[in-house]
Amino acid sequence: MQKLQVSKRGQDVIASPIRKFLPLMQATEKKGIKVLKINVGDPDLQPPAEFFKVVRSYAGKSLPYTPSPGIPAHTAAWQTYFRQFGVELPMSGIIPTVGCAEAILLAMQAVCDPGDELMVFEPLYSSYKSFAVMTGIKLVPVLLPFEKNFALPPAAEIEKKISAKTKAIVVINPDNPTGKLWTDQELKTVVAIAKKHNLFIISDETYREIRFDGKKPASLLADKSAREHVIVCDSASKRFTMPGARTGVVVSFNEQVMRTLLKFAQARLSTPTLEQLGLVPVLNNSKPYVNKIVKEYKKRRDVIAEGLGKIPGVVFKPAQGAIYQALQIPVKESEDFVRFMVSEFSYKGKTVMVTPMQDFYITPGRGRSEIRLAYVLDSRLLKEAMEILRRGLEAYAKSK
Ligand SMILES: Cc1ncc(COP(=O)(O)O)c(C=O)c1O
Repeated sequence: MQKLQVSKRGQDVIASPIRKFLPLMQATEKKGIKVLKINVGDPDLQPPAEFFKVVRSYAGKSLPYTPSPGIPAHTAAWQTYFRQFGVELPMSGIIPTVGCAEAILLAMQAVCDPGDELMVFEPLYSSYKSFAVMTGIKLVPVLLPFEKNFALPPAAEIEKKISAKTKAIVVINPDNPTGKLWTDQELKTVVAIAKKHNLFIISDETYREIRFDGKKPASLLADKSAREHVIVCDSASKRFTMPGARTGVVVSFNEQVMRTLLKFAQARLSTPTLEQLGLVPVLNNSKPYVNKIVKEYKKRRDVIAEGLGKIPGVVFKPAQGAIYQALQIPVKESEDFVRFMVSEFSYKGKTVMVTPMQDFYITPGRGRSEIRLAYVLDSRLLKEAMEILRRGLEAYAKSK
């Protein structure tokens, strides 16, 4: 008898690059070594207190399904939230999702059929790669070169990668894993290409306000001329430090897209009740909290830049946004270095866990000397982490 087999896509999907070193890390921790984890974008800050106030005072005797388009007060709070960026959405233009992750998965399926192509820029937040395998959608990567600080190539180069099967372009701004902020000109270029070739833009704005250039945060939805094209995927996870709330939204002015997304949303019923309720006051008055954490992340970005500046052979430009720093280190295989750091190296009973960048690329062989740091620890610990990284790189070079 033949053995039971999972699907081909199930076999093809990659393990999260962020989580695949977990067993090694746990073994190291069992030995009593403290691991400073700056590999996952799971911040240490406290979420807004109003959220817990609402959740704790929930007086309902039951926990029913919520409507697929969201609890009206929650959806209306997102409407209020978007208004500050000059985006006046109808309620039907917003559907709550289980994090931005589900928003992406639904948006991809709303615009692509199996076999269709989605243009992305690499390196790329790795869940897109998994979702592409799960949905049978082909990702076509355009390289944002590390050496050019991840600048967008000229339009003509991007257009070469468009085929009859291309349905949409993904923009992540501010970006994970590069810490890149898209310039106005780069956004204009992508919008112009989308219009010329009749493509959707999936705009992942998870980190919208987390930018360190002092400029006003924006949404691609504010560009009235591109409204039919743009689908924004958004999230409470990072700007409100509540990834465990698993609450995001998928947003568009395109009515056909929203009708499609609503059918998908109905099939998966609804998103969590308490989290939707808890987010209402947070979304209705988001600025004070967001301003506070952006200041903190900027401080951390600077601490990391200062620490990295002292490490020989490291190449980087300070991140412009999000909560990540991408860098080149003087090693051939960053995966091997990460393995060394979590299984062989420690300094004063501590080591550091970072993420190798290779799996953020689609093109094999790219990113082998790159790593990503997430600034999810306080400045004192980050300073210590940079010192451990410096010593770790030194020890690794000697071990080769
Ligand atoms: C660019 C980007 N998009 C989406 C997500 C997923 O966010 P959520 O926690 O809202 O599902 C992340 C999480 O790190 C991310 O970095």
